[in-house]
Amino acid sequence: MKVLLIGGGGREHALAWHLRKDPRVTGLFIAPGNAGTSALGTNLPIAATDIDALVAWAEKEQPTFTFVGPEAPLCLGLADRLHEKGFRVFGPNRKAAQLEASKVLTKRLFQNYHIPTAAGADFSDPLAAYAYSQKLGQKEGTGTQGGYPQVIKADGLAAGKGVIIAQTPGEAALAIWQIMEKRVFGDAGKRIVIEECLTGPEVSFLAITDGTALQLLPLAQDHKRVGEGDTGPNTGGMGAYAPARFLTEATKNEIVETVLKPILAALRAEGIDYQGVLYAGLMLTPTGPQMLEINVRLGDPETQAVLPLLETPLLDIAAAVAKRELGDLPLKFNALSAVTVVLGAPGYPEDPQLGGVITGPGFTTPVTAKETAVFHAGTKVGKKGEIVTSGGRVAAVTAWGKDFETARKNAYAGIDGISFPGMIYRRDIGAKAHIGS
Ligand code: AMP
Ligand code: GLY
Repeated sequence: MKVLLIGGGGREHALAWHLRKDPRVTGLFIAPGNAGTSALGTNLPIAATDIDALVAWAEKEQPTFTFVGPEAPLCLGLADRLHEKGFRVFGPNRKAAQLEASKVLTKRLFQNYHIPTAAGADFSDPLAAYAYSQKLGQKEGTGTQGGYPQVIKADGLAAGKGVIIAQTPGEAALAIWQIMEKRVFGDAGKRIVIEECLTGPEVSFLAITDGTALQLLPLAQDHKRVGEGDTGPNTGGMGAYAPARFLTEATKNEIVETVLKPILAALRAEGIDYQGVLYAGLMLTPTGPQMLEINVRLGDPETQAVLPLLETPLLDIAAAVAKRELGDLPLKFNALSAVTVVLGAPGYPEDPQLGGVITGPGFTTPVTAKETAVFHAGTKVGKKGEIVTSGGRVAAVTAWGKDFETARKNAYAGIDGISFPGMIYRRDIGAKAHIGS
């Protein structure tokens, strides 16, 4: 069976690794892939956002399934285009993918369907935005809290930088001016959302849905800040562990029943046919769970820590979703714990220095340690066949075992043999993983 996988990060290397364990997958093609995926299948020289070229490839090569890793091709309608030609795709259609592309749309969905979320409003007129910001700041807005800090969000995709937490009225006004008038995020700032600032731990729920049935993947904890002890600037994610045990089964079920299922019902009521991954970002506030955002794809690096726990083949999941029979396929997970530590280029996230040569297990020698995988992210093959860094997040070492202690020990042992100039990583990934267990 031929499978096409779209993307080229660590998430996609992990997906390729899981797909490769399935003997039914006889041909795996990754567009564009990275140096790591080329050892598991054939990398195609097609960008993940080149929809025409991807559809043309599918028409010629007839893949049985296409898996889409990142949001960009989904937002551009790759799933719709492939569906039109009769291909099966794991990933939401264009209309559904707008939930990740537009914070305004998502906020309105939450508000219109009474999904718990921060009090707030959206604006396309800067003057109205300044006025609302002041009103919310004076605790006279619609917010239950109001005041400061206040959160200002650019509507569109802004490489993870479009959310500004303003501490004062001046900072809020400056944020509105920068986003809407100066357009520091380009057209992503045509509209904004202004909302009250929530407090509490943040959790991400990764769920698979066929539009009606919904099944959770093990809870994974990301580590967003570049520095140990959660210090320094935000990144795409410096590491993850799964399963995170800081929520009881009762709390998880409450979130599924009071937040996730109502979101699916709201989407159906809006005529949005949502199939694939629903990634819900929530804050557990003192007054209950509140929705922050919806992503339409698997998290990265969360996926690298979750897939070693997943026993159900991805092909079976994709087939059940396509047939809308996910309710008949209870997902199976092993009882292990997994830890993923991301290796970054020096200067990441602000100014990553790329082009360093990488050596060690997973790069120049095979990974021989058991229950360990090295997933590439920003890597490519250089002119002399050497593997060089080509992205801020270079790779990640994932290890799994009977408990977090074993998984952590093995993940860090896996890093020991790897080297490239200026390699950075956090030494505290998964250090709190046992909490709640
Ligand atoms: P978003 O892309 O909407 O999830 O926002 C990115 C990050 O900004 C979230 O992961 C939160 O850490 C933070 N954030 C967003 N909205 C709020 C809010 N209303 N209150 C507090 N923090 C928020
Ligand atoms: N790790 C966060 C994300 O994938 O959005």
